[in-house]
Amino acid sequence: MKWIIDTDPGVDDAAAIIAAEKGLDVLAWSIVHGNVDLDKALVNALFLKDLLVTRTPVFAGAEKPLLEKRISAPSVHGNDGLGDLERSPAKSREEKEHSVDMILKASHDFPGELGLLTLGPLTNIALALGKDWTLARRVRRVVIMGGTSTARGNTSPVGEFNFAADPEAAAMVLKSEMPITLVPWEPTVEIMFKLSELQAELGDKPLARTFLAMCDRFARYIEEKMGTRSIILSDLVAAAAAIDPHTILKKQDVFAAVETAGRWGRGLTAIDYAGVSGEKPNLELCLVADRGKVLQVLKDGLR
Ligand code: BDR
Ligand code: CA
Repeated sequence: MKWIIDTDPGVDDAAAIIAAEKGLDVLAWSIVHGNVDLDKALVNALFLKDLLVTRTPVFAGAEKPLLEKRISAPSVHGNDGLGDLERSPAKSREEKEHSVDMILKASHDFPGELGLLTLGPLTNIALALGKDWTLARRVRRVVIMGGTSTARGNTSPVGEFNFAADPEAAAMVLKSEMPITLVPWEPTVEIMFKLSELQAELGDKPLARTFLAMCDRFARYIEEKMGTRSIILSDLVAAAAAIDPHTILKKQDVFAAVETAGRWGRGLTAIDYAGVSGEKPNLELCLVADRGKVLQVLKDGLR
């Protein structure tokens, strides 16, 4: 199976990319606005491409959500999106083709064999579907980090960042009938990692040291909010689930939709646990993730 990683790097995106480059057959990285604006996200992707010394091509995608204003998360990931480290300019360059065209082309090159691992707002995937809905028939698996399982938002009271940053796109993707595994926010919070634990586990090779330095800003943010110098590696959990579906210890097939309206409800993941909507399940929802497996794919990626 071939994978495209759709991402807005982001510290936890970096962890996911490090793991996925080792654990998956990655065709391309597709960049989207999100934690930072598209230009910064692209710079970060090219920095990570240099850092990992990988040939995986990088494509730029959407710079804005489908309808409303762009949001970002500098307090979590730093102004530059990767923890505000000092770094030299990237040597790698992005490809000329737009992400959306690359995704559609890959779906024709690898029909029934293509996986999408999405780690940011779903704008690129929604635009690709909007351009050609038959994409949905050619995708084998979509693993999405986004949304919530119990409506505990991190961006609005009920909105998780990736869904809140483009609710219309998330709504389209969940309606697409693609085979979706959704990794929501809550199980990723359950398995947060103390920075000291990561420092002890990941070793001190240069790549691990750079990754840990990126985490510092994020860990200070969690300490302010939750009183523990820890980091929530949500996107890494999604990457681990793509690498090994057994990473998900508890899951449920449910119908889920994304609310796009309302003063408080916009970006909410509405989940029909009780089966009262009359709708068929449209995704597999991750409820509990295997912490050991999640840490292991990151360690494997850093080796
Ligand atoms: C998601 O939002 C982003 O800030 C993270 O990179 C992750 O994809 C968590 O809500
Ligand atoms: Ca992300």
